Amino acid sequence: MRMVDIIAKKRDGGELSTEEIQFLVNGYTDGSIPDYQMSAWAMAVFFRGMTPRETGDLTMAMAGSGEQLDLSSLHGVKVDKHSTGGVGDKTTLVVAPLVAAAGIPVAKMSGRGLGYSGGTIDKLESFAGFEVERTREQFLQQVRDIGVSVIGQSGNLTPADKKLYALRDVTATVEAVPLIASSIMSKKIAAGADAILLDVKVGKGAFMKSIEEAETLARAMVAIGSQVGRKTVAVISDMNQPLGFAVGNALEVKEAVETLAGRGPSDLTELALSIGSRMLVLGGLVQSVEEGRSRLQEIMSTGMAVEKLAQMVEAQGGNKQDVYDLTRLPQATITHTITAEQDGYVAEIDAEAVGHASVGLGAGRLTKEMPIDLAVGLVLKKKRGDEVRKGDVLLTIYANEQKLLQNALHELEGAIALSTKAPAVQPLIYKIID
Ligand code: URA
Repeated sequence: MRMVDIIAKKRDGGELSTEEIQFLVNGYTDGSIPDYQMSAWAMAVFFRGMTPRETGDLTMAMAGSGEQLDLSSLHGVKVDKHSTGGVGDKTTLVVAPLVAAAGIPVAKMSGRGLGYSGGTIDKLESFAGFEVERTREQFLQQVRDIGVSVIGQSGNLTPADKKLYALRDVTATVEAVPLIASSIMSKKIAAGADAILLDVKVGKGAFMKSIEEAETLARAMVAIGSQVGRKTVAVISDMNQPLGFAVGNALEVKEAVETLAGRGPSDLTELALSIGSRMLVLGGLVQSVEEGRSRLQEIMSTGMAVEKLAQMVEAQGGNKQDVYDLTRLPQATITHTITAEQDGYVAEIDAEAVGHASVGLGAGRLTKEMPIDLAVGLVLKKKRGDEVRKGDVLLTIYANEQKLLQNALHELEGAIALSTKAPAVQPLIYKIID
């Protein structure tokens, strides 16, 4: 087999065989296929697309290109969750302990922040001593003992995707739907998922800017799932404004704990219940989403959900008390409020601008190695559609350096738009694809 023939076949709109796809993934992983040939192939895919069968084959070949997590020693259906990333998206911090408390084993690998969207692993490090690097045995044992562990991505999982993603980034081929879909799904499958719940974000603060784009990606991933025998459900949710009120690591942890206790913002609570209840259905624990939802609401109200997070924090080297006394989390030294300059309604809160402001304060990284400040960020006091009076606080900024506060204020200029009329209601969840 020759890579040049595979490139030509795809260039001319042909369908690659399973063997051809396996050949190119193996060759790219072991270095026998060079970057320039892989780039040409990725560009051919960008223009010609891939059939569902080809996309499924690419996914499985990339999932098999490195180490794969074997979760078979854990009882039950292992349901993983993935978000395409957003601002203030602390859903995993809520959903992981919540569904674990209901009886779904959660052995989850999560990422660090990327660009202006935060990462679960950074957020969890707000608990002093929390270890995100664990051995495989510690990771699995913890899930057997308490039902949940969330760690950083470790090991040599999906090396083919790692290389291909870096190549796509510099060859203008990131935006090819079959490549995005197989990239995400291969990582979930290599991480041991039996079933997958995808939260595909759409809007100003998301990778996918339109509902059509988000739906195309969601459908491609759900099709891969059915192609490769992993039941997959996608929720398409709004990321025009930040999720919840808090943006920034420790601030988001506090909000997640409040949500687990049943006192969270309505949008975050709704999304967590919607995702969590579908995970219970995928895991075969309940028959319907409604049944799952009422089970999870009860778990929140009895304090079991907060206790599950506390158990996880303790098992991973932190102090359980930090979950019950949130003043023990990192605190910023400077607070600054932004107020409404007129009466009206909040018409828009630009999630991307808020994300950039949070990074500017030090909550995210500008380079890969940069340390982050866990205490800083911002907390919205109003959300889209809320009525405001002149002088009302719109948001509070939490900073540790005056210079960085000024950067954030600059990023936030024009980020919150007020109008004289109430804006049309924007749904939190646009569609469920299953
Ligand atoms: N996220 C991924 O993991 N892969 C992509 O290709 C795009 C976003």
